[in-house]
Amino acid sequence: MKDTQAQPIVEIEDLRVTFPQAEGSVRAVRGVSLALHPGESLGVVGESGSGKSVSWMAVMRLLRAPPAEVEAGRLRLAGIEVMQARREELTELRGRAAAMIFQDPMTAFDPVFTIGHQIIETIRAHRATSKRAARAEALDLLERVEIRNAEAILDSYPHQLSGGMLQRAMIAMALSCRPQVLIADEPTTALDVTVQAQILQLIKDLQDEMGMGLVMITHDLGVVAETVDRVVVMYGGKVMEEAPVVELFEDPRHPYTRALMVSIPGQEGGRRRLTEIPGASPDPSDPPEGCPFHPRCTQADAQCAAEEPPMAVLGPGRRAACWRLT
Ligand SMILES: Nc1ncnc2c1ncn2[C@@H]1O[C@H](COP(=O)(O)OP(=O)(O)OP(=O)(O)O)[C@@H](O)[C@H]1O
Ligand SMILES: [Mg+2]
Repeated sequence: MKDTQAQPIVEIEDLRVTFPQAEGSVRAVRGVSLALHPGESLGVVGESGSGKSVSWMAVMRLLRAPPAEVEAGRLRLAGIEVMQARREELTELRGRAAAMIFQDPMTAFDPVFTIGHQIIETIRAHRATSKRAARAEALDLLERVEIRNAEAILDSYPHQLSGGMLQRAMIAMALSCRPQVLIADEPTTALDVTVQAQILQLIKDLQDEMGMGLVMITHDLGVVAETVDRVVVMYGGKVMEEAPVVELFEDPRHPYTRALMVSIPGQEGGRRRLTEIPGASPDPSDPPEGCPFHPRCTQADAQCAAEEPPMAVLGPGRRAACWRLT
């Protein structure tokens, strides 16, 4: 249900996020550019520390600044200039424009209030509606995320729910503002495989039904294969490659993407995960010169060590930053 003719719903140009520290600044995101169109689903993959979460926290203005230093040529979400957004726009940004869900649903809920109270308050913070109407809506949302005994769950406290149930409740709360974009940061990593599959299917179904844009941040290439149209591969705070999902799997062009594919162990309960590529991720406070992947790249030569490769357009929706593209 993507609409690539329309204006992108998310526009990121040259996003940079730095965390100044005594021992040297952590350069978490180093010039990321990408766009998401209405209704489109985008996967963001890359090893731990590649800047996936920080990028999208910046888009949601969820990074505390200071300490974070966020810069961007452009950062727009649903027509809102993120960097300039003041209080009212921020409420809109984190509600009607976009919602973010995380690996640990406990971070989304306050342990001292019931699930119902929190969803109802979220709805009422964004829309003028009576408590009663908001409660009916919360009930409806819980049913939509396939929580069966929704009435009882509304009156439960977060710690009374299982991990899977709490994840569903968090999704319900995220959807309560009817966001145009749902950003899911490793939403199923903490869950067992069966529940993972159910939650992913649920997210996909809701995305279709509501025509939302979806950003799926994950280590798991299997999740990407099943849920998104397009994939951005990140490494060392940069985008290495971007491609429609089928093309990425059939014909990965960047050596880093290929290494990720090779490192997929195949059958691990049917799931494909990013595992170890020989060597270590770059130190974000002292990233290498040239291509960030060159110290681990089997194709690298002197140019890769000296000069940063430009992002090259390889075809419709395809780009990669590499001197040794195959
Ligand atoms: N508040 C912070 N202060 C200092 N450094 C930070 C902070 N938050 C993140 N970082 C650093 O920024 C880099 C990118 O972190 P980020 O959380 O975006 O990685 P990620 O790709 O989401 O990894 P993972 O897959 O483990 O979630 C990491 O080196 C991380 O240690
Ligand atoms: Mg992360």
